[in-house]
Amino acid sequence: MSNSLSLLLLLSVVATASATTIGVTYVPAPAQPPPEQVASTLRSLKISAVRLPVAEPSVIRAFFYTNISLFLSIPNSLLHSISSNRSAASLWLYNHVVPFYPRALITAISVGTNVLADGNASSADILLRAVRNVHQSLMDLGLRKITVSTTFSFVNIMMTSFPPSSAEFEEPWNNVILQPLLQFLAETNSSFFVNLYPYFVYKLRPEIPVGFALFQEQAYNFRDDAITGVRYHNLFDLMVDAVIAALTISGHENIPVVVTETGWPSCDSINDVETRPVYAEMYLRGLLYHLQSGRGTPLRKEGVAEVYIYEVFDTNTTFTNQPAMRVGTGQKWGFLHQNMSMKYEIDFSGSFPTTIGAPARSLLQFLLLVIALLF
Ligand SMILES: *[C@@H]1O[C@H](CO)[C@@H](O)[C@H](O)[C@H]1NC(C)=O
Ligand SMILES: *[C@@H]1O[C@H](CO)[C@@H](O)[C@H](O)[C@H]1NC(C)=O
Ligand SMILES: *[C@@H]1O[C@H](CO)[C@@H](O)[C@H](O)[C@H]1NC(C)=O
Ligand SMILES: *[C@@H]1O[C@H](CO)[C@@H](O)[C@H](O)[C@H]1NC(C)=O
Ligand SMILES: *[C@@H]1O[C@H](CO)[C@@H](O)[C@H](O)[C@H]1NC(C)=O
Ligand SMILES: *[C@@H]1O[C@H](CO)[C@@H](O)[C@H](O)[C@H]1NC(C)=O
Repeated sequence: MSNSLSLLLLLSVVATASATTIGVTYVPAPAQPPPEQVASTLRSLKISAVRLPVAEPSVIRAFFYTNISLFLSIPNSLLHSISSNRSAASLWLYNHVVPFYPRALITAISVGTNVLADGNASSADILLRAVRNVHQSLMDLGLRKITVSTTFSFVNIMMTSFPPSSAEFEEPWNNVILQPLLQFLAETNSSFFVNLYPYFVYKLRPEIPVGFALFQEQAYNFRDDAITGVRYHNLFDLMVDAVIAALTISGHENIPVVVTETGWPSCDSINDVETRPVYAEMYLRGLLYHLQSGRGTPLRKEGVAEVYIYEVFDTNTTFTNQPAMRVGTGQKWGFLHQNMSMKYEIDFSGSFPTTIGAPARSLLQFLLLVIALLF
């Protein structure tokens, strides 16, 4: 009896392996519905985390009591003063965190975004001091549960990404910023934040089949890592494992990875052939289904900790640091229309109508229960 009971417990743990937290990036704009309405729509879509690159107090307030966790970013323009003066860090926290927390569930702060994109090595030193000052200010305020880090861009920091097991961080960034920052993240139990777009890597490497970037499981859509013998069925996992391998080589294989941005544009001003609604839908559906399956990646069973889809509404964002962006401007990345209806059939709640989702999972759990009882 006790044997079958422990087997049952073991099997139910296996069957309910926790999936990645799925969030979205929300950039408010005047033409859009008010933030309160957006917050309630996101909640009804079962979205549990929101990233606010522009941390406006009125927008943070719209998420009071929603149980949606918030990821805030400090703009790059403030890093210089925050790095040289801890009071500047405290001032930012007094304006953006202290009045709202914990009614607004602020869980993470990115000190700057893609700071290395300017290629200026002295930015690295400023960045590191700014991250430490924000962390120390949070400690002084007694806000110990908020993770502090900075957001990198995959294409800026990875030297090689194939095969993923041989991936390493690019110099000089590896020495001047990543090594000391990873040490800080390990000491403070923080996560590694990275913007990771299979779309950009696909645009830079024409030999990659588009289906591999779009989670289409077809005969030729795989890449083998000859060193580990692992077969990759999608570009997202391959890129995540490249980051994990680079962390491992740096001696920090356990730092959680948060994908702060990912997505696929649905149109642009030059009618690029891969920039279409049908591809954007395939990418988002494939990504959500993959994350909700809880399968993780070949190198990390639990997968990435969080993923933020870019983005809720189409905005006029310019990706100045992305070389591939020069092929098309005016790209639209949003998954909601201005009237808040969905552009695509995607489901954040984990119950897909047309693919194996929740029903198959409950069947699996039922079968495991039967097997356990038979023992
Ligand atoms: C709040 O969200 C967390 C994580 O998403 C969930 O586990 C919890 O049940 C939610 N609480 C309420 C009151 O909805
Ligand atoms: C430090 O920052 C605070 C808040 O922004 C400001 O009032 C103060 O003048 C700054 N001190 C120096 C030395 O820059
Ligand atoms: C690099 O950054 C530092 C510090 O912000 C600045 O003083 C310097 O002018 C920058 N150098 C270049 C070449 O942009
Ligand atoms: C980090 O997490 C570990 C394990 O959960 C805990 O023992 C440790 O105290 C934490 N460290 C900090 C600085 O929060
Ligand atoms: C988008 O941004 C560009 C450059 O900032 C500007 O020229 C263009 O008018 C903007 N388009 C819209 C629709 O706001
Ligand atoms: C919302 O807007 C989209 C695009 O403008 C349109 O196709 C759709 O019919 C609208 N939905 C509703 C319910 O008004």
